[in-house]
Amino acid sequence: MLLERIGVAVPVVQAPMAGVTTPALAAAVANAGGLGSLGVAAMDAARAGQEVRQTRALTAARFNVNVFCHRPPRRDAAQEAAWLDALAQDFARFGVAPPAALEDGYRPFALDPDMLAMLLAEKPGVVSFHFGLPPADQIAALKDSGAVLLGSATNLADAQKIVAAGLDGIVAQGWQAGGHRGLFDENGPDERLETLDLLAVLKDVGLPLIGAGAIMSRADVQAVLAAGAVAAQCGTAFPVADEAGTSAAHRAALAGGATRMTRAISGRPARGVENLISSRDDSAAPDYPLPYSALKALHGVAAKAGENGYGPFWAGTECARAQAGMAAEILARLAP
Ligand SMILES: Cc1cc2nc3c(=O)[nH]c(=O)nc-3n(C[C@H](O)[C@H](O)[C@H](O)COP(=O)(O)O)c2cc1C
Repeated sequence: MLLERIGVAVPVVQAPMAGVTTPALAAAVANAGGLGSLGVAAMDAARAGQEVRQTRALTAARFNVNVFCHRPPRRDAAQEAAWLDALAQDFARFGVAPPAALEDGYRPFALDPDMLAMLLAEKPGVVSFHFGLPPADQIAALKDSGAVLLGSATNLADAQKIVAAGLDGIVAQGWQAGGHRGLFDENGPDERLETLDLLAVLKDVGLPLIGAGAIMSRADVQAVLAAGAVAAQCGTAFPVADEAGTSAAHRAALAGGATRMTRAISGRPARGVENLISSRDDSAAPDYPLPYSALKALHGVAAKAGENGYGPFWAGTECARAQAGMAAEILARLAP
């Protein structure tokens, strides 16, 4: 029913991935019968609007636009200074001083009326939320515009909030998933449920489920469908697509295969390849997204010097199984 409403023939969602998805990628997946997605959380509304219009020019199908619904960070000057101090020796390797302060570079959707206005005007067809839910008036406005709305849950309590908010479907994100964990409260308990276990827990919650996490093959897609999902959302299978905006260093790092869940990169738990930064002690990390600003600066200077060990290279546990190719080929390999 959900897929019919969206108009998707292949029950595979190419995950929204901020910094990796492109109009060409989302449109290629949409034109091949899956649900293509844009991750616009790191963009302002003007840039996101450009990407949405570029995607619309490439496909007549509905596609998904994903925004972040995190709480704004609590500022703690002493904690932030200590975090920057701890990175000073890493910057020193490249003869650079760390930035003077951490910056809040990701505006929550709730505080971004221009992003809402853009989505209401451009009508991509599907909007998905990560890290929680927007306020009721934003949800109502998007529903009135005809958008299908999806929320991301890693546990039963968050899934029940998505149901209560009146959304249309739930992305059930398992522990193996690459990228940020969609926890509504990143400081709350985390049961670390893997994809199939999470689907079992959410089975009767009352909304269509889209399984996400470690889905890399047709057999994996079939397994989540057999577990009650209406579709699979695949992230890590797609950064190696020809149409993706993934850096060469990120593509190369995926082949290594080892991943780690860490707060050391952005301040929220997120899974990326094991490297110099993801293996760092993250217990004193400031609130999301503050650490991200310093890390991006560090990765920038390090990468220029040929050191890619500080890359925020998000990847799921099965990243070594990612197979490069055109997005339509990747989708065809996944389609049940
Ligand atoms: C590089 C990368 C970036 C991601 N960025 C986002 C994002 O912007 N928004 C979002 O909701 N999920 C994001 N995710 C998580 C995916 O939506 C999805 O939950 C996950 O990729 C599924 O697990 P898999 O990576 O094992 O396929 C990202 C994942 C990756 C790998």
